[in-house]
Amino acid sequence: MMTVRATAQDARDPLSGVTVADVADPGPPEAGWVPVDVRAAALNHHDLWSLRGVGLPADRLPMVLGTDAAGTDPDGRAVLVHAVLSTPGWEGDETLDPARTLLSERYPGTLAERVWVPARNLVPKHPDLTWAEAACLPTAYLTAYRLLFTAAALRPGRTVLVQGAGGGVATAAIVLGRAAGLRVWVTSRDEAKRARALEIGAHAAFATGERLPEQVDAVVETVGEATWGHSLRALRPGGTVAVAGATSGAMPPADLNRIFFRSLRVVGATMGTRDELVAVQEMLVATGARPVVDDVLPLSAAPQALARLAGGDVVGKLVLTVGAPARREP
Ligand SMILES: NC(=O)c1ccc[n+]([C@@H]2O[C@H](COP(=O)([O-])OP(=O)(O)OC[C@H]3O[C@@H](n4cnc5c(N)ncnc54)[C@H](OP(=O)(O)O)[C@@H]3O)[C@@H](O)[C@H]2O)c1
Repeated sequence: MMTVRATAQDARDPLSGVTVADVADPGPPEAGWVPVDVRAAALNHHDLWSLRGVGLPADRLPMVLGTDAAGTDPDGRAVLVHAVLSTPGWEGDETLDPARTLLSERYPGTLAERVWVPARNLVPKHPDLTWAEAACLPTAYLTAYRLLFTAAALRPGRTVLVQGAGGGVATAAIVLGRAAGLRVWVTSRDEAKRARALEIGAHAAFATGERLPEQVDAVVETVGEATWGHSLRALRPGGTVAVAGATSGAMPPADLNRIFFRSLRVVGATMGTRDELVAVQEMLVATGARPVVDDVLPLSAAPQALARLAGGDVVGKLVLTVGAPARREP
């Protein structure tokens, strides 16, 4: 089967470690796992971190990349793959299992013609979503849902600032925030991305670091050092910065004085639960909102797609497909 694997790691040149190759199906790693024939798999910054040597120990190479997939199970049912793997028997929020892992960290990921997952990690795919749209949900849309509605506990009418408007999680937060009745403000370094953010649902767009007209209830933060100070300054007293990423660096000045003096909340989140994955799909179906897909390419074009992701010239998700082009799928 065709796979996209990390075969080497380089912090400066992550793309040098990507290999597209046919390999034998490894079969189930443990009892109770089932194969999913992948129809579409979205790329995430997580794939670049793995190629840089962050979060994926070198002794696990080669490793099939990918944390997002939609495909068919052995009974031919259309499914989404929940990429958070908790310990068998774990009860409750699986992201809080100390031993949890994501697909492509310990077990082969989704950038392949077939991926094996625990049967409990399958979620029925709604027919209203295309394969490409469905493939965006398990990482970026799940994470954005968790940040907005669980970590920041936002309600309709509240104002959220989304940093780094073009990113996969950021565009998901714009789409979901707008659909939920939030007032959505964004920042981006790039004028074209700010314009695109307005098209997909943002109410206002600002240059990165620009002073805002008023303070916000919450910030969705995935950029890290480059925007952290602005995120804290943007919050009203008692506001929440919901953080799930640190693309530009993970060690900004903490500004503890501001955090305690203004009673700010800093809440971290990684991915979400299977229940939240079900909920985000239901929300999209109910509201008619849809994931922002920047481009759809064949699985074999993964190196070019990863190069685009690394270059940052993307608004929304890059999706790889197996078989028929996903845009034509129901
Ligand atoms: N914890 C989790 O579960 C989870 C889940 C998904 C993602 N993440 C993390 O969240 C981050 C974003 O992931 P993603 O997949 O959404 O990535 P992505 O699509 O590659 O996001 C790129 C965005 O980051 C912004 N950015 C990057 N460097 C910047 C800088 N120096 N200054 C300002 N903005 C910068 C850019 O915004 P503009 O160009 O618009 O300014 C760009 O649009 C990654 O670090 C990823 O690992 C975590």
